[in-house]
Amino acid sequence: MSILKTANLTKKFGKFTALDGVNLEVNKGEVFGFIGPNGAGKTTTIRVLLGILKATEGEAKIFGKDAWKEAVEIHKQIAYVPGDVSLWSNLTGGEVIDLFVKLRGTNNKNRREELIERFNLDPSKKCRTYSKGNRQKVALIAAFASDAELYILDEPTSGLDPLMEKVFQECVMEAKMAGKSIFLSSHILSEVEKLCDKVSIIRQGKIIESGTLDELRHLTRTSVLVETKQTIKALSELNGVHDIQIKDHSLTFQVDSEELGNVIKYISQFEIVKFESAPPTLEDLFMRHYKGVGGAL
Ligand SMILES: Nc1ncnc2c1ncn2[C@@H]1O[C@H](COP(=O)(O)OP(=O)(O)OP(=O)(O)O)[C@@H](O)[C@H]1O
Ligand SMILES: [Mg+2]
Repeated sequence: MSILKTANLTKKFGKFTALDGVNLEVNKGEVFGFIGPNGAGKTTTIRVLLGILKATEGEAKIFGKDAWKEAVEIHKQIAYVPGDVSLWSNLTGGEVIDLFVKLRGTNNKNRREELIERFNLDPSKKCRTYSKGNRQKVALIAAFASDAELYILDEPTSGLDPLMEKVFQECVMEAKMAGKSIFLSSHILSEVEKLCDKVSIIRQGKIIESGTLDELRHLTRTSVLVETKQTIKALSELNGVHDIQIKDHSLTFQVDSEELGNVIKYISQFEIVKFESAPPTLEDLFMRHYKGVGGAL
């Protein structure tokens, strides 16, 4: 069942196109990673989904309802954590959590206490005295203490230390186990690898890659180091071979994962004496996208 869907979503600020035909789909029970470098359009997409910004073209739907026209209805069942949390400076953290949770119509004291303890927050302090990480925790506790169907989280771990990041990951997995859906924007790869069922990569307002992590892994490259008795000829003419370099008596290069078999077959005729390969990482894939090379993808 589709929980969140955008079709050809386009947002212009004057002449500047911040979102250019964005298609996304999140199904019930999925953790969806929305990945992209700074300024890619993640927050803009989220603002359109929340009904804060009106799309220039295209559609954005949550629970099958129009994100702009039916925002009030939609908001009853979503919890949102912004990237930079600003709170009411004169209330304490505990008061802000209570306010948010009540606004969403749930009132589960035990859950609230449990989360405050797990996130190691002192709820009695005034919000103006909280550090960035602590403000983030207040918003996360308020979100996870609410009984929402969809959690929209915009770079939620940017201010958290590694221990708290782990607590956050557990909360996301618990929500998923309970059949909830999570839309998680991030530029941190490790978060995505551990949590997300599917990811979309956005760059300059366009989705450049979408799929499960397995599907994306097919787009990665394996690093190879090889030494042969005879000189390898015409390696650069093979499909999927990149970045060939000579190192002492060895050759190093990168191969598109799907071409690896063919390449090994080809070089074996030159009598391999040494062969090392490093598994592909998603990090490499993201870095290629971030730098804007790998234009063929
Ligand atoms: N209100 C606005 N008016 C004009 N331009 C805007 C506005 N809001 C966003 N933009 C531009 O739209 C682009 C996308 O911004 P957005 O905040 O969505 O990026 P992001 O992916 O969330 O980046 P970050 O990782 O830094 O949070 C940027 O170039 C930004 O300058
Ligand atoms: Mg942002």
